[in-house]
Amino acid sequence: MSPYAHITGWGMAVPEKVLTNDELAEMVDTTDQWIRERTGIRERRIASPDQSSATLATEAALQALEVANLKPSELDLIIVSTSSPEHIFPSTACLVQDRLGAAKAGAFDLLAACTGFIYAISTASQAIRSGSVKNVLVIGAETLSRFTNWQDRNTCILFGDGAGAFVLQASETPGGVLSAVLRSDGSGADLLTLPAGGSRLPASHDTVDKGQHFIHMNGREVFRFATRVMSQTTRETVEAAQLTLDDVDLIIPHQANQRIIESAARSLDIPLERFVINVERYGNTSTASIPIATCEAIQQGRLNPGDRVVFVGFGAGLTWGAALIEWSAPFLPEKAIYPFTYRLWVRVRSYLRRLIRHIEGLIWGSKYPDI
Ligand code: ACO
Repeated sequence: MSPYAHITGWGMAVPEKVLTNDELAEMVDTTDQWIRERTGIRERRIASPDQSSATLATEAALQALEVANLKPSELDLIIVSTSSPEHIFPSTACLVQDRLGAAKAGAFDLLAACTGFIYAISTASQAIRSGSVKNVLVIGAETLSRFTNWQDRNTCILFGDGAGAFVLQASETPGGVLSAVLRSDGSGADLLTLPAGGSRLPASHDTVDKGQHFIHMNGREVFRFATRVMSQTTRETVEAAQLTLDDVDLIIPHQANQRIIESAARSLDIPLERFVINVERYGNTSTASIPIATCEAIQQGRLNPGDRVVFVGFGAGLTWGAALIEWSAPFLPEKAIYPFTYRLWVRVRSYLRRLIRHIEGLIWGSKYPDI
């Protein structure tokens, strides 16, 4: 029988720097009242120059591994969902793999915008159920502040930086990820886009002059799309697990806009108290918003082992999706998973590998070595 994919560890990381609505009102023509009434957002976190998607991802990942009592060396796979990777390549997942010292893990990035974390959970769960891997680290990490036009009041009020991570582990015990529904509609690709910097429009003076390296969004259209798909995809996911909405204890939606969440609650006929909402403090952290909200729900005692929770999101692509999870507790007994000596070894190992490559380069020059 296929093993089940349980979530056994969780962690989050947000930058210390807070950017309030009042501070934004000094930068663009807006007000705290307008932002609060239209979005529910009061403040968001902004990465400092020495923080990046990979540093936030690593911080969240270490917490998740600590909760799961799992060593980085026991990981089989790392999936980083992000729309603000450090580079087009190498993947941010590989940078995280090196920082963690996850010596036996495959690593790749996944891009499905704000729905990315749900896509990543589904992918990790299928890999576990196939029997090919046992321990998977799934991370949602964003520094969208780096792609935000701070003169565009339509977008700069919305986004914030942060990361969240889950550890998924195989078990014969039923539970964990019960169902997932993934959807897309590329005909809406132009509604939310970062036009330049890819192969279609490589970065140039012209693209920079036109601000095409910033997020561009048709807010009204995205809003309409979001309110339509949130309730629909929640229902589909619950039905796929042969359950009803009454069997669901908690809904953790993508934190884009309080009004979108309220609209989903109304159309599902579920009281808002069964939703986790923290958009007021972090804004839209894209693919990181669901794991960050999950960590806070656990801290507040709102999500406990045995509970059934729906994650539901939408984003650029267009993409949308949901996953239904039976919440689990950590499997393994407590152990020191990242002692100082291991952290030191990880750095030394990475340094030695670079050094060996450098020496090989000196020996063989630009020629390929005979293998
Ligand atoms: N402050 C003051 N006025 C503003 C601001 C602002 N920050 N932004 C827009 N306005 C003005 C507009 O110019 C417009 O003025 P006009 O009527 O004179 O033209 C007026 O306010 C109304 O604008 P709307 O766009 O209709 O405002 P709306 O109520 O739709 O709110 C918002 C805009 C908040 C962007 C909303 O449409 C929204 O949340 N959309 C969804 C966006 C979203 O979730 N994006 C992320 C998707 S996830 C991902 O993949 C990253």
